[in-house]
Amino acid sequence: MDRTLLIVKPDGVQRNLVGEILSRWEKRGFKLVALKLVVPSKELAEQHYGEHKGKPFYDKLVSFITSGPAVFIVFEGKGVVETSRKMIGATNPLNSEPGTVRGDLAVDMGRNVIHGSDSKDSAAREIKLWFGDNEVFSWTSHSQADLYE
Ligand code: TYD
Ligand code: MG
Repeated sequence: MDRTLLIVKPDGVQRNLVGEILSRWEKRGFKLVALKLVVPSKELAEQHYGEHKGKPFYDKLVSFITSGPAVFIVFEGKGVVETSRKMIGATNPLNSEPGTVRGDLAVDMGRNVIHGSDSKDSAAREIKLWFGDNEVFSWTSHSQADLYE
């Protein structure tokens, strides 16, 4: 099964959107396999956003993501990486469709509430960066047979 990393960024935690976000993914049918509240270190944040190093928004991005507690979540399920990106919406909330997290709950690019891995390779890299092996759980959901044929 596929896995993806979501981060409810510090703005989302401050705005009490953690439950709302978890609920959307749970209800969609994805299985929660890891969850923690962390104030991200600068070192890990820089690795996480390494692809953006040198871009004009990079320093602000790293300082924002490390500014307070953020919630790190791994969801598992069929097509979860791609589907999560759709559920999150466009990077700039002004371009995000209603019905998406950013399209319903955000206005500004630098305060867009949530991160989601952009590919299976990124997901594997990001999950390994933020979680130890013993923090990600494989478990059998009782809903399995009602979600998958
Ligand atoms: P990116 O990986 O391009 O977007 P996404 O989160 O949709 O995968 O960029 C990472 C974050 O950087 C993005 O969520 C918000 C911030 N950002 C800016 O502040 N300004 C920008 O011009 C871009 C492209 C991103
Ligand atoms: Mg990205």
